Amino acid sequence: MNVYDRYLLPHLTHWVCSSPAVQRQRRRVVPRAHGRVLEVGFGSGLNLAYYSPSQVEWIWAVEPSAPMLTLAEPRIVASGLDVRCLAAVAEHLPLAAASADSAVLTFCLCTVADPAAALGEIRRVLRPEGELLFSEHGAAPDSGVRRWQDRLNGVWGRLAGGCNLNRSIVPLIEGSGFRLEEVDSEYMPKAPRIAGYVSWGVARRS
Ligand SMILES: C[S@@+](CC[C@H](N)C(=O)[O-])C[C@H]1O[C@@H](n2cnc3c(N)ncnc32)[C@H](O)[C@@H]1O
Repeated sequence: MNVYDRYLLPHLTHWVCSSPAVQRQRRRVVPRAHGRVLEVGFGSGLNLAYYSPSQVEWIWAVEPSAPMLTLAEPRIVASGLDVRCLAAVAEHLPLAAASADSAVLTFCLCTVADPAAALGEIRRVLRPEGELLFSEHGAAPDSGVRRWQDRLNGVWGRLAGGCNLNRSIVPLIEGSGFRLEEVDSEYMPKAPRIAGYVSWGVARRS
């Protein structure tokens, strides 16, 4: 890991993910999580403030970056929730099949190396009646914005820890064995349009 990725990127990611527009997205999905929760790409733990403590048994917090988990520590302690950190990648979850009631995925599919494999693993770990709660940014519907997303994707990814601007979130989820129960999309207010087209909702195993 180079100096940028180790010392600067975690703080930059935390700062961007703390913006009011992103926090608004968390509020739209995270409070619904219940029981044994799998959160993939836990980052600096910014979702913790949005869980409903009375309905959460514990949270498996999957995060491959040690600096991100270090940043998350104060929020884990302050939350009072039972958070079980797993230093792992979404593509290979060290959890038994059908062991989670809810899965939470926020601003993570853009960064995982293999999003279809990650969703396949989340599907495996969710109970058959479990729900995937997601809020992700990705490919915009407007051709002008989309062109810039494609043009800037490589440079953006190098600066933003492998983040992709142009992944088609809803088709990815539907193509990975999930049925969408609720879905909505919009450009986040006060966010650059190339990184601000978000889709959020609830999906279940199909
Ligand atoms: C943009 S951050 C979002 C963090 C958090 N989900 C949030 O909403 O604030 C993306 C996170 O995904 C993590 N990540 C990258 N590749 C991953 C993978 N293959 N599996 C799981 N997490 C991954 C990164 O380390 C980073 O913490």
